[in-house]
Amino acid sequence: MATDPIHPPPGAHADWTIPQDWACYSPREHQVWDELFARQSAMLAGRASAVFLKGLDNLRLSRAGIPDFEELSERLYRQTGWQVVAVPGLVPDAVFFEHLANRRFVAGRFIRRPDQLDYLQEPDVFHDVFGHVPLLSDPVFADYMQAYGQGGLRALNFHALEKLARLYWYTVEFGLIREQGSLRLYGAGIVSSFGESVFALDDSSPNRLQFDLERVMRTRYRIDDYQQSYFVIDSFEELLHQTAEADFAPLYRRLESLSDISPNAIIPSDRVIDRGTQAHASCKH
Ligand code: PHE
Ligand code: FE
Repeated sequence: MATDPIHPPPGAHADWTIPQDWACYSPREHQVWDELFARQSAMLAGRASAVFLKGLDNLRLSRAGIPDFEELSERLYRQTGWQVVAVPGLVPDAVFFEHLANRRFVAGRFIRRPDQLDYLQEPDVFHDVFGHVPLLSDPVFADYMQAYGQGGLRALNFHALEKLARLYWYTVEFGLIREQGSLRLYGAGIVSSFGESVFALDDSSPNRLQFDLERVMRTRYRIDDYQQSYFVIDSFEELLHQTAEADFAPLYRRLESLSDISPNAIIPSDRVIDRGTQAHASCKH
């Protein structure tokens, strides 16, 4: 999400999509995908949500090489009516929401270099496809993402994007879920990151707090390091119920008079699962 130029760059369609040009990936680029895939899928067994792991499997994402969006979209479409389309990078908010509202997930087509396996600032095809697409094969999460797109278009009118973006951040990108009594990962920013997929679940530094919609929408977030707080949902059904079925207009109005909460803070009304030491953040130089 970004608020850049209104016009798509040269070569892009009016909706900002571009061809993936799958045939143009080099063997080396496919190899980067394979390495990342092998490393993350080994790491995520027993750590990622069963729903995510099932999606990886039934979308056949384990096949060698960067996925061909057309083929992937065909399989995904049959399951939940979603498709994956390529874009040149960040797209304007309204464009992003419009795609989601129409069950199209926009993905970067470039892949990181071999020396960037651990960290990358911009989302590449590994983050976008490995991280985000498996959950789109789940009917409930698929509905949540579409509703989020519709909600985004609505939030533009309320000038409430900053608040709504926090919901995306703390669920779609960095969410945790409780499954059979233990915490599991589902946020794309975590499951696509080697370091954060351990940190988010096992490190004593971050807070782990029960998800609360209003609380999340008040909470600022870090884009330059691991999160200082993660929010835990009980199920995707519950998340969908609390968001898609609620009218955010009164909530946006109420939020205007409520202060923001720091990424590391715990407030009296929180249901605390783990109170973090915050050692990670404070020991950085
Ligand atoms: N129900 C929200 C609204 O009234 C939209 C929304 C749905 C937002 C799902 C996020 C997730 O604006
Ligand atoms: Fe993402």
